[in-house]
Amino acid sequence: MTSKSFDVVVIGGGPGGYIAAIRAAQLGFNTACIDEWKNKDGKPAPGGTCTNVGCIPSKALLQSSENFEHAAKHFGDHGIEVSGLSVDVAKMLARKDAVVKQNNDGILYLFKKNKVSFFHGRGSFVKVVEGGYEIKVSGAEEQTLVGKHVIVATGSNPRALPGVAFDEDKILSNDGALRIPQVPKKLGVIGSGVIGLEMGSVWRRLGAEVTVLEALPTFLAAVDEQIAKEAHKAFTKQGLKIELGVKIGEVQAGAGGVTVAYTDSKGAAQTLECERLIVSIGRVPNTHGLNPESVGLKLDERGAIVVDDECRTNLPNVWAIGDVVRGPMLAHKAEEEGVAVAERIAGQHGHVNFNTIPWVIYTSPEIAWVGQTEQQLKAEGRAYKAGTFPFMANGRARALGDTTGMVKFLADAKTDEILGVHVIGPFASELIAEAVVAMEFKASAEDIARICHAHPSLSEAVKEAALAVDKRSLNF
Ligand code: FAD
Ligand code: NAI
Repeated sequence: MTSKSFDVVVIGGGPGGYIAAIRAAQLGFNTACIDEWKNKDGKPAPGGTCTNVGCIPSKALLQSSENFEHAAKHFGDHGIEVSGLSVDVAKMLARKDAVVKQNNDGILYLFKKNKVSFFHGRGSFVKVVEGGYEIKVSGAEEQTLVGKHVIVATGSNPRALPGVAFDEDKILSNDGALRIPQVPKKLGVIGSGVIGLEMGSVWRRLGAEVTVLEALPTFLAAVDEQIAKEAHKAFTKQGLKIELGVKIGEVQAGAGGVTVAYTDSKGAAQTLECERLIVSIGRVPNTHGLNPESVGLKLDERGAIVVDDECRTNLPNVWAIGDVVRGPMLAHKAEEEGVAVAERIAGQHGHVNFNTIPWVIYTSPEIAWVGQTEQQLKAEGRAYKAGTFPFMANGRARALGDTTGMVKFLADAKTDEILGVHVIGPFASELIAEAVVAMEFKASAEDIARICHAHPSLSEAVKEAALAVDKRSLNF
């Protein structure tokens, strides 16, 4: 078999890999991208976890379920009466699948447009050869590629509870959680992290009684404490049952459902009976089938590929990005690393600023933040000023009928430089972008306070929170 040579071979076509491949091709490199994900019909489905069983389908279902909840609970406030409301779960799931497919097809189109050679199958290292690395593609058509540079972007897999394998029927990972065929009466969730809250919200809105069991005694420990407290209040009010500080014991799945034995925060033995159980206790880096040993690619004890700050592995010209390396497991972090690596290969100064990576939890209210939390600043002993502004005092939020939450600014006490911005409330995912721009440009809270924001808009709450840092909010 003859091998095809490329300047850059990317293994993995998730947001890290496909974006890296496009940027490398834009920079004039002869680029290949190998991805093994396939649809039900066996056709390529690039886009990785994010497109197939992550960001995109979860947001599709969050939207559908929120529409349902609005129609059921909030349309009446607008004088709109709805009767005979029901959910067709099969149709909702089919819409979600169609959204996913549009994204898969979009990536294949982008590969063509940018002249990236796409190979559908599993990519594994074979050996070091003259001029690069030999990589075998196994799948429908076997191929051998040689890459002068290799970018590994093989992503992550869901972490299972010890001894409790995912069957995607009763014990669900994110994959099964996105395709439950009917609304369960009772749904259990283990882990009150991002997936637990987003997927728990979807099925609660559609009518399930959802109980979330969390090991840590603190709710959303990584989130600013004031915001996490507000979130806990809002989710509990919506009917999500959240138990903190539990220790999970035996989990038994049978035809009738799932029984979870656990010890509660007071040390008492409890059981949770549910129809299905989502286990969302984090994800693990994926190098399955990559054959890293064949070339001596170094992994750490968690199975992540060891990289430096610039995504260089221990091997010359082999790079790794996204969920398979250290750092937050976020699609936009993977993308930024992909772009930066392609630019470094081209001799440019690709850069990722880890201090300004935004986080978003797409619940209702949405939660979004960038930079440091108040508890982090306290722990560091940094002198800071805080300013908050509630959506209750924002005209647009009142018109929307969505006044839960606030915007919170944290700025350096002396220089006024913005150190962190935290939003809980409507469209927090969009509002946070202004804060990211501000922090990238090392803006002060006063800079934001002096900028004209459209009225009436939710972004006025951002300006007002910046004004509040100097204790001069105008509308509160
Ligand atoms: P992946 O997206 O995992 O892609 C890796 C790809 O490589 C896959 O297609 C895989 O099949 C392929 N692959 C692996 N090994 C090989 C091999 N040897 N050969 C060929 N192909 C291979 N992040 C956000 O930023 N926002 C969100 O809203 C969000 N929502 C999420 C919701 C859920 C339910 C989940 C599970 C995750 C969510 N994430 C979200 C996280 C996000 O999906 C990941 O951070 C992101 O997908 C990581 O991108 P990646 O390119 O590193 O890896
Ligand atoms: P996570 O790390 O967000 O949350 C896991 C939770 O499970 C934590 O609160 C942890 O304390 C708890 N936990 C761990 N072991 C436990 C145990 N044995 N018993 C009970 N609780 C336990 O992980 P999650 O939700 O699985 O998501 C994985 C990753 O996917 C996230 O970290 C995030 O990077 C990404 N993601 C991002 C989204 C977004 O950006 N909106 C949406 C969904 C996922």
